[in-house]
Amino acid sequence: MTTELEIISHSSDETHTLGVQLGQNTKAGDVLLLTGELGAGKTTLTQGIAQGLEVAERPRSPTFVMATEYHGRLPLYHLDLYRVDHVAELGELGLDEYLSGEGVTVVEWADRAPHAFPADCLWISLESIDEDTRRVSMTADGDRHVALLASLKSRASTMENR
Ligand SMILES: Nc1ncnc2c1ncn2[C@@H]1O[C@H](COP(=O)(O)OP(=O)(O)OP(=O)(O)O)[C@@H](O)[C@H]1O
Ligand SMILES: [Mg+2]
Repeated sequence: MTTELEIISHSSDETHTLGVQLGQNTKAGDVLLLTGELGAGKTTLTQGIAQGLEVAERPRSPTFVMATEYHGRLPLYHLDLYRVDHVAELGELGLDEYLSGEGVTVVEWADRAPHAFPADCLWISLESIDEDTRRVSMTADGDRHVALLASLKSRASTMENR
């Protein structure tokens, strides 16, 4: 089963809030795959997800470290594949351990290794429309991610009606 949802974010705060809503509704084992150009808002969204997961710290775009683990309501595994050049590096990164772990996995630049992930995941693409506007297109595969997106849909409509 696949469902899709598209949201227009008008500010980094709105993207952050979307992340909070996602983080509040994620379950252990969820996999969120983020795509979008430099500055599209992947880390901004991840910071919201962390807040929604009750992580005390604020994730940053990692420079050399490509995987960081945070502790919240559930563990948050924040990966950034921008600098991954070879699929073999994903093994060194411990990708499979994260994916099969008890936490929520969030991957920036996931399209650098699209085949490294299970079929069941939530793809989130952020696309810049102008300086402050982003099109956020989400595609959920598998019951758990479809449910996650559904939890967002009811909230998204209240956001739009604000
Ligand atoms: N609607 C919006 N959503 C998200 N970020 C926005 C929005 N409008 C403006 N911004 C700005 O765009 C930038 C997004 O940066 P961010 O680090 O989140 O992007 P990124 O996709 O993680 O980039 P990178 O690929 O370099 O890691 C921030 O400076 C943020 O303030
Ligand atoms: Mg980033």
